[in-house]
Amino acid sequence: MRTVAVVLAGGVGQRMGAATPKQLIEVGGRPILALSIEAFDRHPDVDEVLVVMAAGHLPTAAAIAEPFGKASRVIEGGDTRTASTAAALRALADHPGDTRVLFHDAARPFVDRATIDRVLAALETEAAVAVGVPSSDTIVEVAGGVVAAMPPRETLLRFQTPQGFRLDTVRKAYELALADPGLRATDDCGIVHRYLPDVPVRVVAGSERNLKVTHPLDIVIAEHLATENPPEA
Ligand code: CTP
Ligand code: MG
Repeated sequence: MRTVAVVLAGGVGQRMGAATPKQLIEVGGRPILALSIEAFDRHPDVDEVLVVMAAGHLPTAAAIAEPFGKASRVIEGGDTRTASTAAALRALADHPGDTRVLFHDAARPFVDRATIDRVLAALETEAAVAVGVPSSDTIVEVAGGVVAAMPPRETLLRFQTPQGFRLDTVRKAYELALADPGLRATDDCGIVHRYLPDVPVRVVAGSERNLKVTHPLDIVIAEHLATENPPEA
């Protein structure tokens, strides 16, 4: 059974507001995208890394992916994360349905081996696996500027990536989602949960280090993590 990691780098990083997409920013002297690819390239159970890049940056992504033996393909993404995932699924059309596929945000360069291990272990028996961490802040639902609901904090998790699937399951969910004119952008587990409600989405523990570089402050944190506490060689 093959395992493919899809590194989603098709975004432009609007909230970061930098001159280039945030996954091209260097932390600890290396582009964020290189660190994200490397986490999967060095994992012994990953056979292939597929990089999905924003249009206009394909040659840069190809140059970053080139040194990694498993990252032989770089493809163009779409306007939304959902469209970028769909592009990856089209690129994997020739893979058998029991392939395990991991979708990872390129903007999370500090995903650790243990998190990937937990996702792959859960995929032995499950068809959809998410990574979640507890929130230290209280999370509330707001409507019209006032609190509408306060779910107990213990029941709420923040999702990270990678999210893992059997390829046939995520394929089917996307087929249904893309045919739905009311499709709202959500993450891949959200699409399985919504369009294949009978498929349980198993949640395994993530890590606080696995932050998604989103705002300028995150670059300060990422630089610190990359230089003070680099991932094991
Ligand atoms: N992504 C993608 N294709 C898109 C949009 C996002 O592959 N059309 C990827 C991003 O490159 C990122 C991950 O999905 O690695 C998570 O998205 P996000 O953090 O929102 O990144 P951006 O969309 O680039 O940032 P912003 O929303 O601030 O513009
Ligand atoms: Mg985005």
